[in-house]
Amino acid sequence: MTAAYITTPIYYVNDKPHIGHAYTTLACDTLARFWRLQGKNVHFLTGTDEHGQKVEKSAQAANTSPKEFVDTVSQTFRHLATNLAITNDDFIRTTEPRHIKAAQALWTRLIDNNAIYLGEYAGWYAVRDEAFYAESELINGKAPTGADVEWVTEPSYFFKLSAYQDQLLDYYKNHPDFIAPESRRNEVIRFVEGGLFDLSVSRTSFTWGVPVPGDDKHIMYVWLDALTNYMTALGYPDEENPDFKTFWREAIHVVGKDILRFHAVYWPAFLMAANLPLPKQIFAHGWWTNEGVKISKSLGNTIDPLELINTFGIDAVRYFLLREVSFGQDGDFSRQALINRLNSDLANAYGNLVQRVLSFIFKHYTGILPTPIHMTEGDLAFLQLPDDYLPTISEMQLNRYAENVWGLIGRANQYMDEHKPWSLKATDPDRMATVLYVLAEYIRKIALLTQPLVPIASAKILDQLAILPENRDFSYMGAALVPGIQLPEPHGVFPRYQG
Ligand code: MSP
Repeated sequence: MTAAYITTPIYYVNDKPHIGHAYTTLACDTLARFWRLQGKNVHFLTGTDEHGQKVEKSAQAANTSPKEFVDTVSQTFRHLATNLAITNDDFIRTTEPRHIKAAQALWTRLIDNNAIYLGEYAGWYAVRDEAFYAESELINGKAPTGADVEWVTEPSYFFKLSAYQDQLLDYYKNHPDFIAPESRRNEVIRFVEGGLFDLSVSRTSFTWGVPVPGDDKHIMYVWLDALTNYMTALGYPDEENPDFKTFWREAIHVVGKDILRFHAVYWPAFLMAANLPLPKQIFAHGWWTNEGVKISKSLGNTIDPLELINTFGIDAVRYFLLREVSFGQDGDFSRQALINRLNSDLANAYGNLVQRVLSFIFKHYTGILPTPIHMTEGDLAFLQLPDDYLPTISEMQLNRYAENVWGLIGRANQYMDEHKPWSLKATDPDRMATVLYVLAEYIRKIALLTQPLVPIASAKILDQLAILPENRDFSYMGAALVPGIQLPEPHGVFPRYQG
């Protein structure tokens, strides 16, 4: 069985969950669900990034100890995962013993391989980004991200990043899919071509982190600690762990564009230095604005994913986020656009189709699925679905997948309008039975395909077609509904949003 490993970034617990967190998580969940339906052995990981100066400062501001603080805030992220109804196999916290062990093991390996040396750091640090910046990178005295920087002078261990420039560039060249989309890949290549400096990988001016093995005045730089989570969850440092062996080389890290450098430059360099295999792909998605405006806490325009779910339902939020922008590009969140999508694509196009067909079968045939008397060539051709949705997933084009599947829904509505089964009641009951069977069967196929995008509604539709849960993966695309089965009373699955 082919394996797939998909990860979200682990979220900083300094803040409440917002739309950016929900977006990455939902995109990963969609991919995980899709691959499972294809019969792949999937491992899906999310979690929280709990160390570092930013979290320590947030705990101080909340007048509590870092430990109590992270225990509380990480719960809100677990809660979000539950509310988003995601299918993660594991939820990792970087304060767990299994992770501290993994991070220290990686550190030791880097020391053993001579990739880390002790020195003194003097330079700029932005706590908000948990990142070091060179003087030349600053813009008007701030980090290029707009974050405040502070001057830091302290003893520090350094990772010999500068030694990996050629190896990284070769790797990018020989693995053209390692960084996606392509525009991001080009950005990373340009950055690495510009030259790399050794990276400070320990801090001494605060204590909230993983202790450096053998020198506990230092704690590990939060990014080295955090990136290791992707291996911790597979049992690292036990490289013989079956999960590590099955999944590690299949890893796809989905990240926002702002944290691409950490994943596509630092992380592979750490792994190269440790003689460990690299993940398969780093995919960077874009950023959401809110009604055209950059989202920021100071502007007070953050979007609470839980409020959206409570108002519109998880399927609608999920569908909107995945359908509205091309995965990889920036997108604009607008409430009206979400309502329009909900009402047109979900309630009208999909919901009405299902409801009209199933309620007619329920009323007219007491829910017994009619037997097709004679399928025309047109019916057979209609039931033959083009499978151009498949490549879109391997290219991570989730929005194109949604477009293609909704194209199929449009095709069903067209078939229904052309054949108007209800108008055949008096004139041609055999034809009516056939057309309704064809539509029900077509809806079954569509509902299989919509499962990764709108899982809750798809499950309800499949329930209403009396499809057993074990008969819902993509290998059943080629199966067919058995005429004469009893269907339960249908209920609408996508209520219109009235506002
Ligand atoms: N803790 C690090 C990740 C470590 S992974 C080893 C981190 N955490 S974060 O909580 O600040 O950010 C998590 C993700 O949210 C990032 O991928 C970031 O790109 C994403 N987003 C934050 N704001 C966003 C938008 N406005 N739109 C889309 N995604 C955004 O970084």
